[in-house]
Amino acid sequence: MRALSANLFALLFLCALASVFYVWSALESRLERHKRRFSIPGGGSFPKGLPVDLSAKTFRTLLAVPAAQRPRLGGSLDAQNLTDQPASAGSRDYHVNGDNKGSTRREGPVKLGSPVENGIFWSEWLEDLLPVGFTEEYARAWRNRARTYRVVKLEPGCGRISNQLATFADGTKACVRYGINADQVQGETLTYYLAGLLGITNLPPLILSQLSGDSEQWAAVRTRIDGLQWSDRAVVSLTEWISNLTGVVTPAPLRQESGGLHPVPEDLRNKTTAELLELAQWSDLIILDYLTANFDRLVSNLFSLQWDSRVMERDTNNLLKTPRGDLVFIDNEAGLVHGFRVLNMWEKYHNTVLSSVCVFRKRTTQRVTELHRRRDSRQRLLELYRDSEPLSQELGFLSDEHAGVLQDRIDRLYKHISNCKGKYGQL
Ligand SMILES: Nc1ncnc2c1ncn2[C@@H]1O[C@H](COP(=O)(O)OP(=O)(O)O)[C@@H](O)[C@H]1O
Ligand SMILES: [Mg+2]
Repeated sequence: MRALSANLFALLFLCALASVFYVWSALESRLERHKRRFSIPGGGSFPKGLPVDLSAKTFRTLLAVPAAQRPRLGGSLDAQNLTDQPASAGSRDYHVNGDNKGSTRREGPVKLGSPVENGIFWSEWLEDLLPVGFTEEYARAWRNRARTYRVVKLEPGCGRISNQLATFADGTKACVRYGINADQVQGETLTYYLAGLLGITNLPPLILSQLSGDSEQWAAVRTRIDGLQWSDRAVVSLTEWISNLTGVVTPAPLRQESGGLHPVPEDLRNKTTAELLELAQWSDLIILDYLTANFDRLVSNLFSLQWDSRVMERDTNNLLKTPRGDLVFIDNEAGLVHGFRVLNMWEKYHNTVLSSVCVFRKRTTQRVTELHRRRDSRQRLLELYRDSEPLSQELGFLSDEHAGVLQDRIDRLYKHISNCKGKYGQL
């Protein structure tokens, strides 16, 4: 009887706790919406200073717990020459593989030799089979078209209410992200362009658009915009909507219970080509999420493991894949701006994830090496963003402090890759 009432009491307590959280998150998003309505007019400054605004924490960041593990990076590792050839300087000519040439070769066990070469790099034969993703040419063409399209419908279908599925006049679709505040649209947009600098083509093409009253693009859905209480003049992002996407479970080597993904036979044997291709894309994802400090994917899963031991068996946040197995990295709004602001809460998890991987795509490491050596990530990112996005002035750019954090992360990533090279390069 006593046990029963104790259980009952615990249940009541949990319900009360859940209601408090529910009410709090609703209040929080209302507060953000309210704040945003008053902060947007006039647009963003350029470059923008760091807004020290702790109330911009998301529900997730409020759940932070004390450190459980020490960061494994950041020591004084000697940087080494990572690449045999110089990286293509400033090239925006994204790597383009043939196309479907390998679709039949993706199935079945590996017969094409070792999946790694030169110690830490995915082999060339595997690279040749990797999906092309959204190539620079494809993305540029989509962006140019999307800027001219009229939105004829806005409806749910892209996640939370602050995102809407937009249908263009020609029937194609995009996900519009209003963002809880302007930082999130910045995070989404600048992560997209950083991926461009790194040659990572898994992010759907993105444009910015301003919801100004005289905008032709939004004229047909003005009533709907008013209904959503989206503020006039807000800058939103639009990303191409991709059909037939499905969820992605974190592959076994990248789960916490495993030893990680290292260029050793134990970690790579018995993998099908399709599994290796997915792992190669994950190695890019981990680099991108580390650099942008995006906690809203693998890292948030690691965090949730504390109370949900089966979280890794479920789909990873903000990651989808096409029927062909191409990973699509969506919802990057936690990256760079928000991610950097709450870095002290998440850094140990970012370090844990990064240190679990020692196999990389050669091209990505070349781009990282170049950004490390030239120390020009701020300038390169700003130039690419300004040249590609007419509304860059309106939305603004990273503060100097955050640009410094990005360069620092590039340098730390470089050291980690060098460390892997030092450890496995002789194999
Ligand atoms: N570009 C896209 N193409 C197709 N579906 C998308 C796209 N972006 C988002 N979605 C769909 O919307 C869901 C939620 O997207 P997400 O951007 O993560 O929203 P939220 O901000 O609510 O987390 C995804 O799981 C997916 O089903
Ligand atoms: Mg999401």
